[in-house]
Amino acid sequence: MSVRTFESGPSPISPNQSMISDFDFGDTALADDIQQQLGQTEHAIVRELSCGEPALEEPMMHLTTSGGKRFRPLLALLSSQFGPRPGCSAVIDAAAAVELVHMASLYHDDVMDEATMRRGVESVNLRWNNSVAILAGDYMLVRAWSVLTRSQLDPVLKVSALTTLSESATALVTGQLRETVQSREGIIEPEQYLQTVTEKTASLLSIAAWLGAAYSGADETVAKTLSAIGEAIGIVFQISDDIIDVAAPSDRSGKSRCTDLREGVATLPVIYALRDGAATTRLRELVSRPITDDNEVEEAVQLIQSSSAFAESRAMMERYAALAHSHLATLQPGVARQAIGNLIDFTLARSN
Ligand code: IPE
Ligand code: IPE
Ligand code: MG
Ligand code: MG
Repeated sequence: MSVRTFESGPSPISPNQSMISDFDFGDTALADDIQQQLGQTEHAIVRELSCGEPALEEPMMHLTTSGGKRFRPLLALLSSQFGPRPGCSAVIDAAAAVELVHMASLYHDDVMDEATMRRGVESVNLRWNNSVAILAGDYMLVRAWSVLTRSQLDPVLKVSALTTLSESATALVTGQLRETVQSREGIIEPEQYLQTVTEKTASLLSIAAWLGAAYSGADETVAKTLSAIGEAIGIVFQISDDIIDVAAPSDRSGKSRCTDLREGVATLPVIYALRDGAATTRLRELVSRPITDDNEVEEAVQLIQSSSAFAESRAMMERYAALAHSHLATLQPGVARQAIGNLIDFTLARSN
């Protein structure tokens, strides 16, 4: 494993802020390696966002150092275990790049969703304003490409990686745009929802897995299988996020509760609840416009909870988790395969 000088020293984010403290790798040596690589990834992220002017860095560091699960870097690093160079410097660059794209999407998403809390702290749009959040997100996005461009890699693989990341980021933005322009009435089919979340969320998990594997020198078929696993995990991840929006208190999610519900975002529980008999008329009335009244938010939550929406959403998650496991079963057995299996189950259980 290569270690660069700037990567030495403690990680700027403590491990207990990431999901690593809750996640069972199933193997102590693997857990130690990945923990060290996540620390290197943090240094790479902070390096990219250090522009030398504290006033400009502050909004970018605000969420960077406030926590976050580092789910995408974790998937990239675990996927790199399937190649001959797990956790090499190019893999660290890939892990940093996907987290930068992800954080950029969070900065922009909080403007779109008018969110007030993220990673347990005030969102950047609230603490500063929308312009700062948008520009800080833009900065992160551009730095993601910069990391990959400077990475020590075979030029053909580098062009392929930059092209694939461009396609994933295009899909992410397309999904966010699709969700924004589709009216609630126009997106009541689960199939349309699946298209949107495949774009807005699963695309980045898919590229995280692919980049980790490809940069480590894994065979293209293995990298493609990991990419398919990442996509299926991404769908499970977003459905659980949708359940969390309605069901989890903000001290658990680190986000303000019911942000999507208040903003009229067609999440899967809402889509299913609107198809479930008695509650449909009143729920449709409530969610056909932004909900500002707290009593109406609670009324909508009750209608969703008393419908079959959560059970149907969980059934959909289980289908995609099973798909991820079926792809995983084709990969070489070992501690890395076991850890990715645990990651699929962790994602499935996240909203319990
Ligand atoms: C939130 O992602 C946005 C979604 C795609 C659901 P995470 O839940 O991974 O956010 P952090 O990085 O842990 O804050
Ligand atoms: C997640 O959007 C997708 C992206 C950020 C690209 P959400 O709006 O569902 O995510 P949270 O719940 O705010 O994290
Ligand atoms: Mg949001
Ligand atoms: Mg959103």
